[in-house]
Amino acid sequence: MALITWTNAFSVGVQEIDMQHQELIRLINELHDAMRAGKGGSTLGGILKRLIDYTVNHFGFEERLFAKTAYPESAVHIAKHASLTREVQALALKYESGQSVLTIDVMEFLRAWLTDHIKGADKRYTAHFHSKGIR
Ligand SMILES: [Fe+2]
Ligand SMILES: [Fe+2]
Repeated sequence: MALITWTNAFSVGVQEIDMQHQELIRLINELHDAMRAGKGGSTLGGILKRLIDYTVNHFGFEERLFAKTAYPESAVHIAKHASLTREVQALALKYESGQSVLTIDVMEFLRAWLTDHIKGADKRYTAHFHSKGIR
């Protein structure tokens, strides 16, 4: 069973960004499924790495759009991306060094880490992007 199911409640009203968020949700679900199936460390580590790489690219995509459209809340939003990136990189490091294992708690952390950001900070840019003709 998927940990996160995409619904319209996640939509930020910009098609390309919704697609990227769907891919992030897919990767977290893939990690969750692999964990539940008892997959080994290298499999889980590989998925975690893909999740981090995709996240960094996705944040960069949003930030380039902020710059292009002079988004007034850009600085606050970029700071949130930086702290989310640090959190997930710290998690991956702990995991790689064997100090941590993937548990339901870690998955719950990742679920909240992503969904709170999309439903909070990301949804705040919808009206701004729409006013610039981006949807
Ligand atoms: Fe986002
Ligand atoms: Fe964001």
